[in-house]
Amino acid sequence: MRQKIVAGNWKMNTTPMEGVELAKAVVAGSRNVDKSVNFIVAPPFTHLSEVMKVTRGTGVAVSAQNCAAEAKGAYTGEVSAAMIASLGVEYVILGHSERREYYGETSETLNKKLEQAYANNLIPIYCIGEKLEEREAGKHFDVVRSQIEEVVFNLDTDRFAKLVIAYEPVWAIGTGKTATAEQAQEIHAYIRGVLREKFGDAANDTVILYGGSCNPSNAAELFSKEDVDGGLIGGASLKADDFIAIGESY
Ligand code: 13P
Repeated sequence: MRQKIVAGNWKMNTTPMEGVELAKAVVAGSRNVDKSVNFIVAPPFTHLSEVMKVTRGTGVAVSAQNCAAEAKGAYTGEVSAAMIASLGVEYVILGHSERREYYGETSETLNKKLEQAYANNLIPIYCIGEKLEEREAGKHFDVVRSQIEEVVFNLDTDRFAKLVIAYEPVWAIGTGKTATAEQAQEIHAYIRGVLREKFGDAANDTVILYGGSCNPSNAAELFSKEDVDGGLIGGASLKADDFIAIGESY
């Protein structure tokens, strides 16, 4: 049985105080949801310490949205995986399409970031997914294959066993357009197949999340698909009620 995960990527939203309130509401709401659903919240760096205070010892885990590619030193403005892990944070989102697009993250950078995450016992939530023009040109399978081969294939089996993948079609992020459940299942199954080529049956245990305009009305259908193991939620994770409702739809 694969783990079920519902993760909220808050992106660059909320003040630290608002974030603490949101985290408190998620903790409270999560108590009424089946224990098989694992909630994760991913606030901005500035909130991590305070959010950890309200989530520690509850079922809600915390993720960072990024980490530095280097361990430490003269990298102004960067935040290291060690700093994040020292707070008790368990996960880190890496390779989100917004970081690939606006901050030039490449497979080369992401290999270094994954190395830092693992070296500090953070579980990476590695994001992959195609742009609209790539889907329209029928290249979506090739795009996700390269994003996996160039990064995930460099992991050893122990590290691979911990990895979480998030498939986020860029055309569905923040657009209100969702992949249909069939489109999600098709590509999630493809992704698992690519992972199986390298890691064999271990790929059957890999959690593959769907992200892109996932909300309380479409979550149940998406999550009903065999290879969809939960969601990475953007906009709808900023309202505790919606975020919890997404978890309840499992
Ligand atoms: P939305 O749910 O706002 O489309 O964002 C998805 C996402 O990018 C999560 O990482």
